[in-house]
Amino acid sequence: MCGIVGMVSADEFYAREAVQRLKRLEYRGYDSFGYYYDGKLFKKTGHIIVPETKDRTKMIITHTRWATHGGVTDANAHPHRAGKVTIVHNGIIENYEELREGLKEKGRVFSSETDSEVAAHYFDEKLKTKPMKEACVDFIKDIKGEFAILVMIDREDTLYALRRDSPMVLGVGENINILASDIYAFSDVTSKAIFFENDEFAAVKSGSYTFYDRHGKEIKKKIQQFKWEQEESTREEYEHFMLKEIMEEPKAVRRLILSLETEQKENFGKFVKLMKESRKVTFVASGTSYHASLLGVYYLHKCGVEAQTIIASEFEHFVGVDRNTLVVAISQSGETMDVIEALKYAKKNRAKIASIVNVPYSTVQRMSEISLNIVAGQEICVAATKSFVNQVTLMLSIAREFGFRINTSNIPGKIEKIFRQKDKIEKMAKELNRHNDIYVLGRGLSYPVAREIALKIKEISYMHAEGMMGGELKHGTIALIEKGTPVIGLISNKDYDMLSNIKEVEARGAHVIKITNEMKGDFMVDTSNDGKFGILATIVGQLLTYYVAKERGLPIDKPRNLAKSVTVK
Ligand code: M6R
Repeated sequence: MCGIVGMVSADEFYAREAVQRLKRLEYRGYDSFGYYYDGKLFKKTGHIIVPETKDRTKMIITHTRWATHGGVTDANAHPHRAGKVTIVHNGIIENYEELREGLKEKGRVFSSETDSEVAAHYFDEKLKTKPMKEACVDFIKDIKGEFAILVMIDREDTLYALRRDSPMVLGVGENINILASDIYAFSDVTSKAIFFENDEFAAVKSGSYTFYDRHGKEIKKKIQQFKWEQEESTREEYEHFMLKEIMEEPKAVRRLILSLETEQKENFGKFVKLMKESRKVTFVASGTSYHASLLGVYYLHKCGVEAQTIIASEFEHFVGVDRNTLVVAISQSGETMDVIEALKYAKKNRAKIASIVNVPYSTVQRMSEISLNIVAGQEICVAATKSFVNQVTLMLSIAREFGFRINTSNIPGKIEKIFRQKDKIEKMAKELNRHNDIYVLGRGLSYPVAREIALKIKEISYMHAEGMMGGELKHGTIALIEKGTPVIGLISNKDYDMLSNIKEVEARGAHVIKITNEMKGDFMVDTSNDGKFGILATIVGQLLTYYVAKERGLPIDKPRNLAKSVTVK
């Protein structure tokens, strides 16, 4: 997590412009922020505030933090300075304690609890005896852990950037170069990007750059010409990005369907072919993307395809992969560290890698032999909403190639019908707001949906929610049901087993809220298709979550302790 932006230009630019760019990356973390230019250091806890200053500069580094080592304090905010060196860092320096002790013995005094500050002292110490290029080679050798790091040296016109396992990209503009955690930071200025691979570093000036490998050998890098249809990143008339992004779902699904028939058609065909040729298909994902993969496995299983999915952070403990396995990663950001680590494990075991991502050119996409884009557009709210809908629509389109009966073209219209129940959902949210615990029950295709709705409720509404298999209730959790306990029951296609589970909790006084397609329920979804039920029922849950959180006055788009892109293990 954490976002970094560094700019170096031949002409002066407003310092506040860099902070505005950093704000585009605020979804990567928002515990504190800071910047450094021309001897001026600013750092503070809280969300990014673009400064009023009219200062102009030619070089600046900025940082937005998601705390790992050290609490959320001004002192722990980046940048960190030591002597003539100033740094910003994304990642974790695992051997920082050992390095810090060594540096302390040399008389270095530390002013923060972070692992990152070590890097500032490290470079300042090295520069006493070596040129920066050699210091970078040593750094890559000496550091255990992950880093995307920018280093500024007083009175020098070069910005240094080093990368291992944390994202870093150089945006190449006219007389300006921008280093950042991802292309959002500069996609309005240039469509030319150079992605850093692991253990590479670069010396970047206003009109030039030089890349080096871990040994300090100069390397030629390819400029990628990127096309990124960035959804307008303003909230428009909406109070929150979350609601805006939910409302964009019909448009996002239409865009995906069109793209699968046009620009992604060939790739889509190759992707399906690769799946068909593989002896074993294993999905890997985290959080919401994992729930989309569970639905995908359900659809594939219905048409006789053996597939499985494993949570990324536990991947290597629970699954064996080999050259006959196709590992399909699903990730909105394409930067989730757990997913990347799982892919490395898969690669080591010679599995084939495919992926389904939203952010093009992301690390996961670049690690894949073949990759499909869900083209959901930029998702700013930490909660995944439209990206989930498009991931599932894509999974349905894939399953159709294996025989799953589905017409995806009417999904947008059916989503719009859910939106018409908004007032009713809002009213229900007012009622739920009084509770601290909620249970969401599903079976079969609605089990992943139950987990997804519960995840949304937890992260955005701060309500304890358990999303579980209806059949598991009687094995323990039912002990928690008492008079008035809210339970969301997901009942698709007259699932009588699910109905029995609902009856069991009702008999113990639970207040059951039914989301269903065929029976009398609190919220109706208009489909008799198992595939579409998953999408539509989840959207009811997304809206419920949104309105409960709104009722509670919570920071909906930036819930506490979270970040959009989870780039730590
Ligand atoms: O970018 P990814 O899809 O890999 O992210 C995975 C999870 O971190 C993400 O889905 C997370 O669970 C969301 N905040 C859920 O709304």
